[in-house]
Order: sequence, then C-alpha cells, then structure tokens
Amino acid sequence: QQRNHIQDLISQMTLEEKVGQMNQASVSIVGGFDVSFEELIEMLTDGRLSQGEFSKIMETAERDYHEDEIRAGKIGSIMLQNAEKANELQKIALEESRLGIPLIIGLDVIHGFRTVFPIALAEACSFDNDLFLRTARMAARESRMEGINWHFAPMIDVSRDARWGRVSEGPGEDPYLVSEFARAKVKGLQGDTSNPANYVAACLKHFVAYGAAESGRDYNTTSMSNSLLHNVYLPPFKAAIEEGATTVMAAFNDLNGVPCTVNGKILNQLLKEAYGFDGFVVSDANGIRECVAHGSVEDEQAAGLQAARAGIDMDMGTSIFSNYLPQLVESGELKEDILDQAIERILSVKMWLGLFDSPYVNIEDRMVTIPHEHRELALEAAAKSIVLLKNDERLLPLNKDQKISIIGELADKASEVVGAWSISWKEEDCVSVLNGLQQQSDKVKYFKTGGLTEAINEDELQKAIDYGDIVIAVVGEQVSMSGEAASRANIGLPGQQQELLRLIKAAGKPVIAILMNGRPLALEWEAENIDVLLETWHLGIEMGSAIADVVFGITNPSGKLSVSIPRVTGQCPVYYNHPSTGRPAGKSKFTSRYLDVDNDALYPFGFGLSYTEFAYSNLEVIEESHELLVSVEVVNTGSRSGEEVVQLYTRDKVASIVRPVKELKSYQRISLEASSSHIVQFHLPKDQLGFYDNDGKYQLENGAFTIFVGGSSRECLSQDVHIQFSLH
Ligand code: IFM
Repeated sequence: QQRNHIQDLISQMTLEEKVGQMNQASVSIVGGFDVSFEELIEMLTDGRLSQGEFSKIMETAERDYHEDEIRAGKIGSIMLQNAEKANELQKIALEESRLGIPLIIGLDVIHGFRTVFPIALAEACSFDNDLFLRTARMAARESRMEGINWHFAPMIDVSRDARWGRVSEGPGEDPYLVSEFARAKVKGLQGDTSNPANYVAACLKHFVAYGAAESGRDYNTTSMSNSLLHNVYLPPFKAAIEEGATTVMAAFNDLNGVPCTVNGKILNQLLKEAYGFDGFVVSDANGIRECVAHGSVEDEQAAGLQAARAGIDMDMGTSIFSNYLPQLVESGELKEDILDQAIERILSVKMWLGLFDSPYVNIEDRMVTIPHEHRELALEAAAKSIVLLKNDERLLPLNKDQKISIIGELADKASEVVGAWSISWKEEDCVSVLNGLQQQSDKVKYFKTGGLTEAINEDELQKAIDYGDIVIAVVGEQVSMSGEAASRANIGLPGQQQELLRLIKAAGKPVIAILMNGRPLALEWEAENIDVLLETWHLGIEMGSAIADVVFGITNPSGKLSVSIPRVTGQCPVYYNHPSTGRPAGKSKFTSRYLDVDNDALYPFGFGLSYTEFAYSNLEVIEESHELLVSVEVVNTGSRSGEEVVQLYTRDKVASIVRPVKELKSYQRISLEASSSHIVQFHLPKDQLGFYDNDGKYQLENGAFTIFVGGSSRECLSQDVHIQFSLH
C-alpha cells in the first residue's frame, strides 16, 4: 500500500518536483549582523566568540526559510531548529504544494539535544550499550518536540589519529566498540516507533573512511587497502545497517582517489547492493560541489551527474541537483529511473517517519525546562564517561574539609562543557566544573590565573597556592579546538597550561589536573609530573556535578579509554590494534621503533583506574562447536564497591594477511561489592574470528589464536587455542 502510494506520487511528478525531493536546503542567514556571517564563523572558530555569544547573535539574525520554493515543490528537506517554523513549513509543503509531500527536517543532534550528553568519544568510555541507547532515545524525543525528525548522527567514523578534530564526535579507535555504539544509537533513535513523537531517522556518517584523513587534517585524502577498509572502517556501518538505519551521509574525503560523493563502488555497489541498504544517501554539505575542487569532475554539472549516478539520493546544500539534473535527464545523459529510485527511497523514509499522517508538532507539549529525569540521565552518562588515568598516593577522592584552590580558564565556563557540535543547548542548563565543586563544598575557591587564552597571572597563582591544601587545575581545550575543521598539529595542552601546572608543582602543592578536552592530548610530561590526571572530556550539561561526585568520592570512576592517549604528537596515529610488524620494537636498533620515544601509548585503549582494584584470575577457554566459552574470575580486592569493564580480545597468530596484535571482541560492564568476586562468561561465536582479505571477502582460517581477558588492552590474562572452523 505504501509502495503504491509512493509510485502514484512519482507518476504525477514533473522533473522539477522530482529533483525537488532530492534537494535539501538550509535556512539562509540574510542579514542582521554588523559583521559578515563568514567572519562570525571565523570568530567562533578562533575563540573570539564563545558558543554562547554566537548562539545569541544567531537568535536575532534575519532568515530566509525558502517558503516559495517549498510551495513550488522544489525542496524536499530542510535543516531547521524551530518548532513554529517547522509547523509553518510543513503546512506549506502539505497544503500548498501541488503533491502535498511533507519535508524531512534534519539537524546535527550529535550528543543530545537540549539535554547535552557527553561527546561521543567520552560516552564511548562508558562501554555501556544500554546507556548509548537511552541517551539517543532521549535526544530523539526532545528534538522531535521541536519538529526535527532526522538526526545527522550517529557519527561512526573509526578514528585513530588524535590530531583530527572530529575524533571528538565519534566513539573512538576500535571497530568493535564503534560498531556496538552504532547499533545502540540506531536502536535508540529509531527503535520506538509506537508513536512518531518517539523516534527520528538516523544518519550514519561519514561513508566512508573519513576518520582516516591523512595526517589527521580534516577533509584530507584517504588511501587504504581493501582489507583495512573492510576490517576497520566499514564494520560500524555494516552493523548499523543491519540494525535498520534509514539514511547514510557520504563523506567529504576521496577514498583511493575517488571522492566518496561520486564513488559508485562504495555507494551503489557496496552500500546499496552488497549491504542491502534500502534507505537514502545524502551528500555532506557542499560535498557535490567540492568534487570540482577535488579535480575529479570538470564542473558542477558533471559533479551532479556523477553524484546521482554514484548513488547520492539527496543533495545537501548546493542546489546542483536542482540546477542540472532535469536538463541532464532531458538530454538523455541521466536515466530518469535514477531519480525515481532516489525518490522512492526518500519517500519511504518520510512515510516510515509518519510524516504524511503526523507532520506537526504540538507547540504546547514542548519542553520549557529540562525535566529531572533528563538531568539524571545526563549525570549518569557524564559520570560513566570519566576516566581516572593516574591517582598517586590515592589523592582522590578528596574530603570536603580540605581547602581546594581551583585554577584554569575552563573551570568557570558553563558554555565550555557542551563539546563540539552542540547546537540546541542553553547556557543556563550547564553546570561548570567550578559550579559543580562549589555546590558540594564551601572550601572551594576559584583563582583567575589565566594560562589558556590569557597570560598567566602570577599574583592570582600565588594566592591559589597560598590558599589551597590542594590545587585542582582544570586544563584542556576550548570547545572550538575540536570538532569539524579543528585539527591540531601539536596536541599538547594549548597555551601556557603546562607552565601553569609546572609552577604549582614547583611550589610543592599536590596537583590534580582535570582534563577537559575533545581529543586525546599528548600528556607525557603531565603523566610524569602531576599527581592526579582525571580525563573528563566535554561531558555535557551535568559536567560539573559529575566531576564533583568523582572528586568527593560519591561516584567511583569506572570509564575506560575509547581511544589511546599518546605520549607525544609525533606518535600519531597511535592505536592498540595495529598490525604486527616483522620487527617488533626491541633493544636492537633495527626494530620498528623511535629513537626518542616508546612506541606504545601513554595510556592504552581500554585503560581506566578506579578507587578500588580488580584482580583477574582463572581464565578458561572452552571450545564448543560454534563458539568459544571464555570465563574469568574477577575479584574486587579493594575496600569499596566499583564497576569494571571486563574486556575480551583475540589475536589471530598466523593468517594469510598480517593481522592486528590484538582486537576487541566483546566486553561486559560489571558491578562488584568490596571483597566480592564474579565469574564473567563470554560466548564468542567462532565466526567472529575471521577477517576480510584484500578482495573484501570474509575468511575463516584454521589455526592458533590467543584469547585475552583483562581490564585494559594492555593488561590481560591470555591463553592460546587452536581453532578448526567447521565447514557450513
Ligand atoms: O552533519 C554535518 C557533517 O557532519 C559535516 N558537514 C555538515 C553536516 C550538516 O551540518
């Protein structure tokens, strides 16, 4: 019935109306500023404007909502965040356009809507699939109240290079963890279809290998073997498509010389045919036009033609499809059937969203203030995302009688907690680190020492040293230093923040560094010299409360790194699951190593301390016909209860292509009372022990494997097994 309705609509469409459905517009800013829009963006990027100031300016700007084009059936989708406007535009589309087709309204809702959760890189540190789902579901509901029915999320680019600014937006370096995250996010965004108010269309991005941008520089070229592509960068997309994701965004980068936007091999052949993806593909913003700059097509017309042929169904923001596809069909260069297939995909998603029947938002139902249970979830997510990297002399947790000096420019900024790509937040909802700590202790005092954007104020620093029994330095990156177009070639602490730490240390005060950043920072010096390192990333609206709970011991930290932390920038990319080399690092000169720094990460993937300790013993691996039964005993040997992420890794010891030294295959988050123990069991299907070869074929090769179980990718118990795969 749905298919008939769609075919009926397609049969009535003019060519202009067809490409209209394939055209996504964004609200144009037409004036109202003293400076140009481009300059405003530049000011936001270089920190002259805070996110909060930028949002305020945007609220008052004049806008063009493209009403006439919608009325004429020339727009199928719009990016928008305004419930009243969404209703108005849907009314025009449904009641005033000839065929009455609703708009699909999209927005970058990356890690929460009004309730901002931790950035994805941080949330992934929780290794909590159920949490991934619940935060996505809440974001879906909140945004749908504002008329948004399509999220440009989840971002599931595996990213191994901390220089890349968009590391912050995705769940890290490991294909298995990213795949689990991807599945859970799709379930959370799309899963509750009982009522249109409860779900949105997910958009998997960026297809594909965008996270492998050479040198960690955004939008840069990517080049890789088929096996690397299939084993590392594709699995999250494959998993999310199996989960029913309805849309995919093509990546900006070229892959092995062909821009993804015009890459029929990956869009048509792999995504749509091999993976059976039946939703629609949208280009990234301006992506079609950029194929001209890539030099892979001569002009915009050729870019539109190649993109449509390659499998792009919707053009984000260039109008190239609208400007050129009708005449290309008329001249016979482009088959009309390609348009029809794209429209069928787009209309199917609109119908699945319920937009033909319930396109409007009930303005009265909108959220005025963030409800308590939303804040509770934000707090849970923030708490589980914090990773304790170092805790010398068990300095943490602190007791509330201690006098605490807080320094660091990021400490008192509520607007700095939200992380990159937060659009729908309000400053009054955010708890800064300082605010969170002061809510729990009246002995917490803030000193404006500068050090990030301003020079160090030595008088203030002296006051901080004189006052506190202990100094907490909140150091890291401003929100604008990570995210899109925010790559850094030197990923140490920016500004004079390291010097700030050095001065306090030299004064003999114990120092706790609260790291607030959107990427792993190179922290070799800090790890050697600072007593406590607490990695807190950008944790969202409850950042300050979650940190205070950890600092004062109300929460026992349990996060584990979703990404390796390098010693120095020159190690990048550094990741735990690298292929084996023929000359592993050793004492001899002629091995794979640096002269001046160790190979391994400072803190490896999966690592994270707790206020208690966990001991692992009795690893047992039993081979059954289709699975390995792996068990291990975990004992909480400390004096307080805690949560631990038990991780299962494997290594394929001999294979026809070089395999990684270790690969995550499963994990479980467990909770243990002090002195108690638990036998953790994993059922590992044997077919997860295979790999993709360079023809993109999945191979299961008999032979020796090592099974590892432990509390990080570095510290594991291990056992070798010999596997014989049964022929199916
Ligand atoms: O969704 C984003 C994408 O990740 C980067 N370019 C712009 C898109 C829409 O805002």
